Amino acid sequence: MQIYSAADALQEILFSESELRARVTELGEQIRRGYQGIDGRILVVGMLKGSFIFLADLVRAIDLHCEIDFMAASSYGHSTESSGQIRITRDLTNIEGQHVLLVEDIVDSGFTMDYILRLLKSREPASIKLVSLLDKPLRRRVPVNIDYCGFEIEDKFVVGYGLDFAGMYRNLPFIGVLKPECYQ
Ligand code: IMP
Ligand code: MG
Repeated sequence: MQIYSAADALQEILFSESELRARVTELGEQIRRGYQGIDGRILVVGMLKGSFIFLADLVRAIDLHCEIDFMAASSYGHSTESSGQIRITRDLTNIEGQHVLLVEDIVDSGFTMDYILRLLKSREPASIKLVSLLDKPLRRRVPVNIDYCGFEIEDKFVVGYGLDFAGMYRNLPFIGVLKPECYQ
């Protein structure tokens, strides 16, 4: 497979570094307010790998006691299509009685978050909420309740700020739209 440079692979920049920073700061404040009154700490759970940059910035914007852990899931399917069959490849230890904040990069079909939220709810946390940096509502196949959402976007394939295409472009500091000819 040919690897295009970011300049060749992107058709536009959707969110610049400063737009991302501003929105993440707002989300952090919204999350702090949302947990007002809880006793103790929250457990922030990042979905690997896509959420790693978002999570790193977000937790620094949340003025609460946070524990941090990671989970990983893979879905069978093509590189830009989810199949609905999810497999956990890294799991959490006991979350019973904890306030869990799940951190995702993007909700697309919804299959992944639907599966993970059901799984985690079955383990009896004190509460569970979802924060997703991006949401593609037009692509939804199963409903997912996103408690905190950074941006809604159109049906375009985006990369950067943690999000990849075939493992590439996660380290771009902004979010850009991949040219369709790069994945079609
Ligand atoms: P879902 O199960 O279809 O909601 O898929 C969610 C996962 O697909 C996300 O966690 C991403 O890893 C990946 N994904 C969906 N859309 C995009 C995109 O536009 N860029 C990069 N990854 C994406
Ligand atoms: Mg993901």
